[in-house]
Amino acid sequence: MIEFRQLFEKESSTYTYLLADAASREAVLIDSVLETVERDLKLVEELGARLMWAIDTHVHADHLSSLGLLGKRTGCRIGLSHRSGATGKFEPLHEGQRIQFGGEALTVFETPGHTQGCLSYLADGRVFTGDALLVRGCGRTDFQEGDAGQLFDSVTKKLFTLPDATRVYPGHDYKGFMSTSIGEEKRLNPRLTKTRDEFITLMANLKLDPPKRVNEAVPFNLTL
Ligand SMILES: [Fe+2]
Repeated sequence: MIEFRQLFEKESSTYTYLLADAASREAVLIDSVLETVERDLKLVEELGARLMWAIDTHVHADHLSSLGLLGKRTGCRIGLSHRSGATGKFEPLHEGQRIQFGGEALTVFETPGHTQGCLSYLADGRVFTGDALLVRGCGRTDFQEGDAGQLFDSVTKKLFTLPDATRVYPGHDYKGFMSTSIGEEKRLNPRLTKTRDEFITLMANLKLDPPKRVNEAVPFNLTL
């Protein structure tokens, strides 16, 4: 059985997830943010858990990741996509790899498009989709080697083949939603119910401002 916590960082509207194997107390943190790392570590301690892994869904452009710090502070293994472009001390993660914590494991899915190194992680009927799939939305594709067609394929050909009841836990939410399901997004996601060509056109015309901290966050998060 997995003990599960969803945590929120309000400056960048980022979700961090803690999963712990109930029996062994071995745990994994997904997308921990530097500003809230002490909170996350305190929770690990309070739950009597031991951090085995810290993993990110991708190289974030909007906030500083705790990955490097968690590795140094706790000695946990740190993982990021083999296609992340990051350098330094991390374990490159690949499609189908299993991130073991006690008797439980997260399975790695490569879901590129928002960035080339985007990963989703699946365990126990929950999928952690980073910015590939958000509640009624998806991550932008206009920088960090984003590719709208590739994102459309990652979501529709990979994530949408999971059972409809699979709970989807996104990397961010800006409207107060916490989670959704594969079935719900297949029916209701306003972007990903379009055709591939319509989706590519829509994503090319979003005209978004760059994230506030992009120039600081990307180099920081690429160096582990
Ligand atoms: Fe992102």
